[in-house]
Amino acid sequence: MKTIGLLTSGGDAPGMNACIRAIVRTCVYNGIRVMGIRFGFDGLIRGDIYEMNVSSVADIIQRGGTILGSARSEDFRTEKGQKKAIDILKDFGIDSVIVMGGDGSFRGAKELSVKGIKAIGIPCTIDNDMGYTDYTIGFYTAVETVVDAISKIRDTSSSHGRGNVIEVMGRHCGDIALYAGLAGGAESIVVPEIDFNIDEITDKVISGKKRGKLHHIIILAEGVGNAYELAKEVQEKTDVTTKVTVLGHIQRGGNPSAFDRLLASQMGNRAVKLLMEEKSGLALGMSCNKVFEMDLIEAVGIEHKLNTGLFEIARELSI
Ligand code: F6P
Repeated sequence: MKTIGLLTSGGDAPGMNACIRAIVRTCVYNGIRVMGIRFGFDGLIRGDIYEMNVSSVADIIQRGGTILGSARSEDFRTEKGQKKAIDILKDFGIDSVIVMGGDGSFRGAKELSVKGIKAIGIPCTIDNDMGYTDYTIGFYTAVETVVDAISKIRDTSSSHGRGNVIEVMGRHCGDIALYAGLAGGAESIVVPEIDFNIDEITDKVISGKKRGKLHHIIILAEGVGNAYELAKEVQEKTDVTTKVTVLGHIQRGGNPSAFDRLLASQMGNRAVKLLMEEKSGLALGMSCNKVFEMDLIEAVGIEHKLNTGLFEIARELSI
């Protein structure tokens, strides 16, 4: 009997649970044994593995986080760790593994596939930083969370005539900042992919203030600069009191959006079907609303590009 193991790895992302549910239910429907591996590759090396069934995934489609737990594993990067993992998989009779995570997790999945374990990668990260796919599971939920925060901050910003720098996550990728900034009507968006000009930001604050604008929202992607320093500079140059909100890990939690649940359900189902066809070493992606697969390493090699068209629209609309 075929036995599929599944694990979630790296930073958690809303929709991972919906994906776990889809994988487990597709396995049960098709008579495949399915084993949950706790805490990513670390848990795999420790043999933290249990058999799952239909009830193991009841009532989780709407929950953020991952019921399997996640980790960023250092041990699995070593030959010794990988050998241990393969031995454990063999001990548990697991011939195939589905890895839900980002770039690093996909490299781990590739290691398994070259060492004889069939492996499929499903892109799960709020950052949307994987160039081969239009969307990763968790991204749109994080965007919704940020848009909600922008609306709330804008309320209080308007009441006091203040500016606010809102720092969002994304590691090296500006997608959360860009999509949430445009959807939230931010005045300025600062992303790592595009050089920013402080005068452009402060000119907007000053001209907005002259027109009677009471809120000035600046979305700053993490890593581009220090939110507190940026707020200080804006305040000094504009004489508008400018506060800072660092949204942090609030962006990683919460109920997944319908879009993320749909993406997760389709990808989880497809991953099992590919393994049933004895395919391996593949990454799932979405393009033009369709799920597709391609080689794992080719996938991680495709650099993510910011949608500069959206950035230009945001610039024009935020005069
Ligand atoms: O990759 C997801 C992410 O949330 C990034 O946006 C962020 O830079 C990082 O993970 C934070 O990681 P940790 O939760 O390990 O601090």
